[in-house]
Amino acid sequence: MPIAQAQAVTAARVDDLRAQFAAKVADWSGPVTLEIGCGHGHFMAAYAAAHPDECCLAIDIIRDRLERAQRKTDRAGLTNVAFLRAEARMLIENLPEKMRLRRVFVLFPDPWPKRRHHKNRLLQADFLAALARCCAPGARLYFRTDHEPYFAEVATLMRDHPDWRGVDESWPFEQTTVFQDRAPGYQSCIAACATSA
Ligand SMILES: C[S@@+](CC[C@H](N)C(=O)[O-])C[C@H]1O[C@@H](n2cnc3c(N)ncnc32)[C@H](O)[C@@H]1O
Repeated sequence: MPIAQAQAVTAARVDDLRAQFAAKVADWSGPVTLEIGCGHGHFMAAYAAAHPDECCLAIDIIRDRLERAQRKTDRAGLTNVAFLRAEARMLIENLPEKMRLRRVFVLFPDPWPKRRHHKNRLLQADFLAALARCCAPGARLYFRTDHEPYFAEVATLMRDHPDWRGVDESWPFEQTTVFQDRAPGYQSCIAACATSA
């Protein structure tokens, strides 16, 4: 794609994201709980119902799953949860100025198992640095996967990253996701944001 066309596509996506923010979360105040790659939204729907005082945001890049999740939570009368169609990096680079993240869940993200595709993995050092800049004091990142090499990579990142430190804490809320249900096993790790604390 020519550069000018790619820039126009990116600008249109950012405009769309800002419109979603304006439509759905403009009146939110206080730190936000974010789920990245929420799929069908089962985790965040249950989390928001169990935490009515938290502002809960869930994003994915697949529109129809999100729309179904939003309709379900609207029918349930949940007013503290919003599902946005957004790519994770674009979201954190365009977060409303006053919005800060307190909890970030990344559950069973695509593991991109082939070596030449590792660069597509979401959790990488530069992404964690950008995420830390969006965090409220004491923020936590919760990661869960059934892919052993991805788990090992993220555990190492959390150990070595200047903006995060691995913490030995219990998982704050359990709700089986679609991918968790299919997995024969999984591992979890938690990191505290070191720069926002
Ligand atoms: C393997 S599925 C896991 C879904 C859900 N978390 C679960 O555990 O059932 C990964 C999800 O992440 C979404 N996704 C992939 N890359 C993404 C990105 N860069 N930003 C936001 N969502 C993304 C995909 O569309 C998909 O729904």
